[in-house]
Amino acid sequence: MSSYSGLPKPFFVLAPMDDVTDTVFRQIILSTAPPNLFFTEFVNVDGLMSPGRPKLLKKLRFVPDETSLVAQLWGLRPENFRAIAEQIADGSLARELGLPDGCNFVGVDLNMGCPAKSEVQNGTCSALIKPENRDLAADIIAATRAGLSGRLPLSVKTRLGFSQIDMSWFEFLLAQNLDMLTVHARTRKEMSKVPAHWDELRIVREIRDRLAPATLLVGNGDVESRQQGEELAREYGLDGIMIGRGVFHDPYVFATTSLWHEVSPKERLSLYRRHVEMFAATWQEGERPIPTLNKFCKIYVNGFDDAKELRERLMAAESTTELLSLIDNASQ
Ligand SMILES: Cc1cc2nc3c(=O)[nH]c(=O)nc-3n(C[C@H](O)[C@H](O)[C@H](O)COP(=O)(O)O)c2cc1C
Repeated sequence: MSSYSGLPKPFFVLAPMDDVTDTVFRQIILSTAPPNLFFTEFVNVDGLMSPGRPKLLKKLRFVPDETSLVAQLWGLRPENFRAIAEQIADGSLARELGLPDGCNFVGVDLNMGCPAKSEVQNGTCSALIKPENRDLAADIIAATRAGLSGRLPLSVKTRLGFSQIDMSWFEFLLAQNLDMLTVHARTRKEMSKVPAHWDELRIVREIRDRLAPATLLVGNGDVESRQQGEELAREYGLDGIMIGRGVFHDPYVFATTSLWHEVSPKERLSLYRRHVEMFAATWQEGERPIPTLNKFCKIYVNGFDDAKELRERLMAAESTTELLSLIDNASQ
């Protein structure tokens, strides 16, 4: 199927977060309260087409249970976008990752929003928003589309502008015949320092309605609950809502009614235990260092007496074995 037409309205998406939304964390969210779509972390197509490929494949790893996963790509060279899109669409990349026949990504997304200095200096990600880079953005979209050749949907995730809000960017993007467009409602310059400008999404929606009524529009920025997302989707006429950092406060953020605040310390620790066990089983070659787990610790070890002290002990662990035994001692 080459579109996302089967999704409910509004649909919910777990935001791509580098070094956070790997297959392990996505499987945790799949088991708590899953959204309708997941994204991989962003992965560089130029790196994937270089000798550095084996190291980057960890960012695309997934398991057969992950049946609604969109691969997010970034990079500079259109021919590399085309080649990787081809490998995703024909399933060969999924086979390389060890997935059985029939298991594949459900779409490809292009990152045109990451504000990091190194990416911007290279002219990639949010630098593509700049008017002078629009030809390159068009070439990247066209090359990816050629690689997919109608086999999987194509989408873009971006921001409201580079230094300032720039609706010409949306006039451009919405003339590209995308299946989906996700807008993080801040400019690149704003990084994450100001509240998201949801009001601007009304204008983007009007451009979408005029130029590309078939392109699904997804809003993103500061959403902390499913209910809040539903209200924003209704207010601004959006098809979907993407939530990122909201999962740090509530792993059940996509639930109709989240009862996370009622989950006992023991159950919280047991969810962290599952995360650590899965991490150890998945990244057996040390592909991800142990400190990667520290950013998750606060999700689970939070909201009860002595949680801070326990976190400090857990975050000093040097191996997953040590971490698991600390969790077991704390759970007794
Ligand atoms: C740690 C972290 C890593 C991120 N990595 C990516 C990424 O790989 N690709 C991407 O498009 N956005 C990335 N983002 C941006 C998020 O997808 C999202 O747009 C942003 O956090 C705003 O949404 P939120 O307020 O719901 O978190 C990242 C954000 C964070 C906090």
